[in-house]
Amino acid sequence: MNINFVIPCLLGVESIIANEMKELGAENVTAENGRVLFSGNENILARANICSRYAERIQILVGTFEAHSFEELFQGTKALPWEEWIGVADAFPVKGYSINSDLFSVSDCQAIIKKAIVERMKTVHNISWFEETGPVHQVQFSIMKNQVSLLLDTSGAGLHKRGYRLEANLAPIKETIAAALVNLARVRHYHTLYDPMCGSGTILIEGALLANNIAPGINRHFSAERWLNLPQNIWDEERERAKSLVLTDSQFTAYGGDIDGKTLEIARINAKRAGVDKYINFSRCDIRNFTPRSEKGTVICNPPYGERLLDIEQANELYRIMGKNFRREHGWAYYIITPNDDFEREFGRKADKRRKIYNGMIKCQYYMYFK
Ligand SMILES: C[S@@+](CC[C@H](N)C(=O)[O-])C[C@H]1O[C@@H](n2cnc3c(N)ncnc32)[C@H](O)[C@@H]1O
Repeated sequence: MNINFVIPCLLGVESIIANEMKELGAENVTAENGRVLFSGNENILARANICSRYAERIQILVGTFEAHSFEELFQGTKALPWEEWIGVADAFPVKGYSINSDLFSVSDCQAIIKKAIVERMKTVHNISWFEETGPVHQVQFSIMKNQVSLLLDTSGAGLHKRGYRLEANLAPIKETIAAALVNLARVRHYHTLYDPMCGSGTILIEGALLANNIAPGINRHFSAERWLNLPQNIWDEERERAKSLVLTDSQFTAYGGDIDGKTLEIARINAKRAGVDKYINFSRCDIRNFTPRSEKGTVICNPPYGERLLDIEQANELYRIMGKNFRREHGWAYYIITPNDDFEREFGRKADKRRKIYNGMIKCQYYMYFK
């Protein structure tokens, strides 16, 4: 079966997700502002959920159409083949948003879409009441400039929830963003990775997962796993496929430091849960005393921004210390994510490359030094 998919994404990571989907075997991959579209079969559905490092969720695109009135919204929704996905007993809650459109009342749109799906299902199944006690098929709508997209979420909990981070420090970076940072730093299985302000260890854990080709979703479940209209074997097949691709001869090593000992305890627990603790060495250390343990290495860090954890002046002082301690030497590359526009000045060097990335709602720059 050929299925159309959508991945909604934060601005800045669309091309990374598009490349990842191509590598996973998806077809017709296109990156747009804030989303990636692709197509594939049921195995691709399971594979994208299990293997994607950067996507937040995988949605099925049930259909798109233009609507300026509630009647058009109703008829457009009713015309779509919902019964292909939603069974008689399944639950199908509806949520979504509307931007720059004639239909702006989200709660009305929600009610109309629900009613239209019910009407469709009534006609197809010839019953008048739906218990909705079965597996959840979350319907998601987006209406942008009167263009309606109707989607079904296959992931359930966001894919950033890998299952390893049960304890959080004050300002952890999202796993999907950490993975994108590691991707942009081109971390490989023969690299040594450092994060001298590692907090709960997310960047290093994602680095270890990527370097060893370990699928981040291998140990969790997805809402579409309970859908009866999907072949049940796809999940086992794709977990087996992912396991078979894990590298067994990797040279990857990582070093994590943080000034806060309690945070490091959490980092150790998280790394163990993720199954990558054997690759990562954590030790309590002030960045003032940062000393590399290898001849070559890649340093990625997400320092305090001067908003939540430290004041601006203290954050700037850390950037100056980093500029001094991150020496410009052959074989070394440094990657720093921060929203601070003065970062390069405080660090003391212009980045070789910069890239805009959203860390949640905070617009950041990813400063890259590799020359
Ligand atoms: C934004 S958090 C990093 C979060 C991390 N990426 C994660 O996912 O959990 C910044 C970290 O820098 C640490 N830190 C602050 N000052 C430091 C210093 N002088 N030396 C080392 N670490 C420091 C804090 O303890 C905090 O854990």
